[in-house]
Amino acid sequence: MNLTLKIWRQPDASSAGAMHTYQLADVSPDMSFLEMLDVLNEQLNEQGEEPIAFDSDCREGICGMCGLMINGDAHGPEVTTTCQLHMRSFKDGETITVEPWRSDAFPVIKDLVVDRSAFDRIIQQGGYISVNTGSAPEAHSVPVPRDDALRAFNVATCIGCGACVAACPNGSASLFMGAKITHLGELPQGQPERDSRVVNMVAQHDHEGFGGCTNIGACTAACPKEIPLDVISQLNKDLRTAIKHGH
Ligand code: SF4
Ligand code: FES
Repeated sequence: MNLTLKIWRQPDASSAGAMHTYQLADVSPDMSFLEMLDVLNEQLNEQGEEPIAFDSDCREGICGMCGLMINGDAHGPEVTTTCQLHMRSFKDGETITVEPWRSDAFPVIKDLVVDRSAFDRIIQQGGYISVNTGSAPEAHSVPVPRDDALRAFNVATCIGCGACVAACPNGSASLFMGAKITHLGELPQGQPERDSRVVNMVAQHDHEGFGGCTNIGACTAACPKEIPLDVISQLNKDLRTAIKHGH
């Protein structure tokens, strides 16, 4: 495949960025999107140009580090992570635009790399439990209804990639927060902090500059782990209950 790539370049957080155009030939349809960027970077290195900075770690859809706006879609045209997206999803001769996540709460560090530490600070406010769960046999002595366990496991698949924020016109992190709140709120071990968790996480979310949810649904459509929209209803329900309890 021969491709024209329009890629956002920005030297650092305080400098202005711009789209730059690159030509790349002989791209295999079996390459992942990140492997294609690796090849482009080798080409740039050979030409004595600065390679393009982008994030990745596991390259297996697990860690949530990768994340690019590809042709205006968070993680590109498939429901998957950028590292699991393959070039066969594009056409020979296509022009592909590549940008970093666009959100005030995720400032650009360099080129395609953004600072997602706002998510870590939200987790610090409540994405944990304080009870001692003991060893595995003791954990099995606390019965959890099957449906609750399944729902907790399903939403625990959120990898914190931030695509939901990038896709949302309001820049809201409600899907991410809803996944964490639902995951812990479905389990008996998550009950002691249930009220304080939602109140503190929402306060941190708003403090970080994420926007409010207006039920557009772009977040769940972009989510590589298919976190359902109803976790946001759970978030709002838990918040109302916490306020009723005097938080
Ligand atoms: S909810 Fe989905 S899109 Fe948002 S951070 Fe989690 S995995 Fe990524
Ligand atoms: S690099 Fe880990 S999810 Fe993509």
